[in-house]
Amino acid sequence: MKIKLNRIAKDTNIFLKNFLNKQDNSKLIPAMKYGLFPGGKKIRSKILIDIGALIPVDYKTLIIIGAAVECIHAYSLIHDDLPCMDNDKMRRGKPSAHIKFGESTAVLAGNSLLTMAFEILSSPNLKVNEKIKINLIKKLSECSGHFGIAGGQYLDLNYEKKKVTKNKILEMEIKKTGKLFSFCCVVPAIIKKKGKKEIKFFEDIGCKIGLLFQIADDLIDFKGDQKKVGKKTGKDKKKGKATLIGLLGYSNAIKYCDNIILDIIKNLKKYGSDSKNLKETLEYILNRDK
Ligand code: IPE
Ligand code: IPE
Ligand code: MG
Ligand code: MG
Ligand code: MG
Repeated sequence: MKIKLNRIAKDTNIFLKNFLNKQDNSKLIPAMKYGLFPGGKKIRSKILIDIGALIPVDYKTLIIIGAAVECIHAYSLIHDDLPCMDNDKMRRGKPSAHIKFGESTAVLAGNSLLTMAFEILSSPNLKVNEKIKINLIKKLSECSGHFGIAGGQYLDLNYEKKKVTKNKILEMEIKKTGKLFSFCCVVPAIIKKKGKKEIKFFEDIGCKIGLLFQIADDLIDFKGDQKKVGKKTGKDKKKGKATLIGLLGYSNAIKYCDNIILDIIKNLKKYGSDSKNLKETLEYILNRDK
């Protein structure tokens, strides 16, 4: 069954709103909501659902796990925009969280979103057995910390205005963005207690999808229309970010993406028509304008 991105975004948002409404009120909630809701595509939740067509898992379960992933993603964007990182004042067509709420509130709302992801996974809302829960929590922590987003963001900032090899750029992009997609892709395999080989297979596919997503984001930064994108464009070049576009040029970076898609599709062959939605999502990732 095909479930559209909009539907998935809505269901994810409904879960998150209910979850937040049940929490005791705190002064950080407005900033957390600001980072979570308006304008985010919820593409990571969509990937979770698409992969769920390959190893079937109950939709509601995947939406809850997707909600946890989106909390981590929202935290990473709030922190990514901070003056000590990319120093960006606009996100999703509105002032970045630190512009709207102040820097310290943005940092703390980010921290709270990061930890809320694990609160969601460990809550009784997620109905999977405890061993599986621990495996999910372990994997998501690895993908978020120094081995994943945080480590990748460190490299991203460290490589600014430096000449960096292709492999180092790929490693940085896979860590800062690929690992969270890799978590999304491995979730159904973890829930269905698949063996090491299958776990690795889905992690690899996820890293490739995340890499594709980040290169596409870099392409949008290079050529995109700021009004449509909702964030300032042309900023990577200005900041001297290490990207494949900088190294190989715009059209070679697109070719690189085409090859990633071909490679993923080759790997998905054994799933036949079950991978149809995922393939469409890959095309969307490369051809989107925001
Ligand atoms: C932007 O992510 C940051 C990257 C990892 C490239 P998204 O493009 O998924 O951001 P939203 O949530 O849809 O705004
Ligand atoms: C962000 O990459 C990756 C994260 C893990 C947050 P970018 O710095 O390119 O994201 P944008 O372009 O600001 O959304
Ligand atoms: Mg950045
Ligand atoms: Mg940025
Ligand atoms: Mg970018």
